[in-house]
Amino acid sequence: MSVSLSVAGLVAGYGKKRVVDGIDLTVDKGSILLLLGHNGAGKTTFVRALFGLMKPEAGTVRLGEQEITGRSPARNVADGFAFVPQGHGVFRTLSVADNLELGGFAVHDRSLLPERRERIFAMFPILAERRAQLAGTMSGGQQQMLAIGIALMHAPRFLVLDEPSIGLAPNLVDKVMQSVAQINREMGTTILIVEQNVKASLPIAHHAVVFKTGRKIYDGAPEPLSDHQRLMELF
Ligand SMILES: Nc1ncnc2c1ncn2[C@@H]1O[C@H](COP(=O)(O)OP(=O)(O)OP(=O)(O)O)[C@@H](O)[C@H]1O
Ligand SMILES: [Mg+2]
Repeated sequence: MSVSLSVAGLVAGYGKKRVVDGIDLTVDKGSILLLLGHNGAGKTTFVRALFGLMKPEAGTVRLGEQEITGRSPARNVADGFAFVPQGHGVFRTLSVADNLELGGFAVHDRSLLPERRERIFAMFPILAERRAQLAGTMSGGQQQMLAIGIALMHAPRFLVLDEPSIGLAPNLVDKVMQSVAQINREMGTTILIVEQNVKASLPIAHHAVVFKTGRKIYDGAPEPLSDHQRLMELF
């Protein structure tokens, strides 16, 4: 299941401070879009505004044909738009199994949940092994996998991941990237991934966008960004 996302003229900020300054962007149905940019470029603010965690000051957001600007996160989740926040989105004092259970809170047809859970366990066997462990006692990488698992309990049509590789060891970074590619390939989910790890994320991206101080300065194929010099010029 997949759906496109398109954004027109999006403006967002904090008080008088404008952090996202008129962004137009489309994530094609079934594709992976990589959003790059330096620290403080406005990436998190942008995705939070898409998901309804903050209200955009201007602009529109469409999921497929439907306008969803400013819609609540709960309604977005129920409509197949899932969000994995920057810094592990897990319930630390609950077990792995309970985290997944809670992840599926808004799924009306409860009979779908066991199969989804098994699919997540197949994708991340460590979660199956540790299903009874408290999430807060897992490693950073394991918590990141769980955060992705929680989002997958809704079988999203559109998934946003905000810097899923941050703080992870290199082998785990690759594992997370492979999982993101697998979700896109096998479930057809449209994905917007925010990353700073350019080397690890470029190979899985179909399209790339670069932000600089709230503006879009690149929108095109990922390949040219693997040229280090080119990327440094953009950043
Ligand atoms: N709650 C907040 N209140 C005020 N300013 C904020 C708030 N959150 C972020 N900012 C500011 O907005 C700007 C953009 O921050 P944002 O978190 O969107 O950047 P980012 O591109 O996600 O950076 P990073 O790669 O470090 O996560 C920064 O200057 C930041 O200091
Ligand atoms: Mg951020």
